Amino acid sequence: MAKARVQFICQACGAVHNRWAGKCEGCGEWNTIIEDDPTGGIGGGPGRAPTKGRPVALTSLSGEIEEAPRVMTGISELDRATGGGFVRGSAVLIGGDPGIGKSTLLMQAAAALSRKGHRIIYVSGEEAVAQVRLRAQRLGAADTDVALAAETHVEDILATLAEGKRPDLVIIDSIQTLWSDMAESAPGTVTQVRAGVHALIRFAKQTGTAMVMVGHVTKDGQIAGPRVVEHMVDAVLYFEGDRGHHYRILRTVKNRFGPTDEIGVFEMSGDGLREVTNPSALFLSERNDKSPGAAVFAGMEGTRPVLVEVQALVAPTSLGTPRRAVVGWDSARLSMILAVLEAHCGVRFGQHDVYLNIAGGYRIAEPAADLAVASALVSSLAGLALPADCVYFGEISLSGAVRPVSQTGQRLKEAEKLGFKAAVLPQASADVQKGAPTRLQEINSLIDLVALIAGSKNRLRSDEEER
Ligand code: TYD
Ligand code: MG
Repeated sequence: MAKARVQFICQACGAVHNRWAGKCEGCGEWNTIIEDDPTGGIGGGPGRAPTKGRPVALTSLSGEIEEAPRVMTGISELDRATGGGFVRGSAVLIGGDPGIGKSTLLMQAAAALSRKGHRIIYVSGEEAVAQVRLRAQRLGAADTDVALAAETHVEDILATLAEGKRPDLVIIDSIQTLWSDMAESAPGTVTQVRAGVHALIRFAKQTGTAMVMVGHVTKDGQIAGPRVVEHMVDAVLYFEGDRGHHYRILRTVKNRFGPTDEIGVFEMSGDGLREVTNPSALFLSERNDKSPGAAVFAGMEGTRPVLVEVQALVAPTSLGTPRRAVVGWDSARLSMILAVLEAHCGVRFGQHDVYLNIAGGYRIAEPAADLAVASALVSSLAGLALPADCVYFGEISLSGAVRPVSQTGQRLKEAEKLGFKAAVLPQASADVQKGAPTRLQEINSLIDLVALIAGSKNRLRSDEEER
């Protein structure tokens, strides 16, 4: 009989090694390799006698679905981002830079839920009770029945939660401060954070409590970031924003119980976060529509249209290699647009620095912004201001073609609502209503756009005469 072999398996990537090592060569992770017995598994050959399984009842795909029971906060921007409220028995991770307002948001949510009669427990591992009370006072939440504890030891937290009436929602602020007896490493390490979060998630599943956990985005490798637990939780939301601006965006990146492209928009004020129900008006509020290089993009965030201004500055360079700087957009995508403009439209940027900024510190991920970016670039290079009442959207391909994007109707409707009178959009866009009050300029290649901007003055005048 062959000698029984042991093998070592990396817990992060599953790579199998012949001997133990500190670092997995498959994925580069440290301390993830543990000894495993290869016998007895599927294809493992004769080893331990397999235990006799118990048949489980098979069922069909159709049939009754129990609606996920949710706890709605009544803060509609938060409920929108979570897909209609926190789901009982689920774990939600809220990530974000330190100081962005995670604790503030959750304290406001806790207060709102408590006012509706839910039992809420707020466990703060970062701030002392007095500090949390001070914030609660500032937010007008001090009179609510939110139960507060300052604790970081996971076993103690679990024992506290298990006592008394089952909580409806538990807030853990933050996962990086948790430490558990089950893991030996220092608090804040991946092992400790994972062990703590794992224990809390198990509690949530067993009791049907909604568990909301805060995770700081860390720049330092010593402290585990929220990424290391993303796969364990049911939903991941990121709270983002620019320190220089006072609005904040809650973005859904993973949600087992709802859509993942929703955003909630808030404004940080002296007495907490305020909901912003019309983000477009906010993002466009500081517009200077007479200057060249600004184009308004009609974008979509999940089911909601959002209008933002794309600003470009193209200036002659004094350097050998011209600068390209982007804020709020993908720099690889900017290089692509510049290359397409050069190759197919003869617009040259080789002797110019290019700066691109999305107004208000907003961040765009949609390829539909290509056309707005190209318009802003051409407008700045040519020194011609774009019409102030026009929105732009469409995806640009490497061949210089302008491709249709989804939800044209909704984008146009939002633009109309905010007083825009014209739109430059891809030809053959679906769901476009002809005869709408918006003047539609359909184009199918980038050359058309350049021609349109170059001849904009004449064209607009003749348009006016036609009417
Ligand atoms: P906080 O919620 O503590 O951030 P996080 O938990 O993400 O680290 O919020 C920190 C910032 O928010 C702090 O700089 C002060 C500001 N803030 C206000 O502007 N208004 C308020 O009402 C509160 C409570 C905080
Ligand atoms: Mg905090």
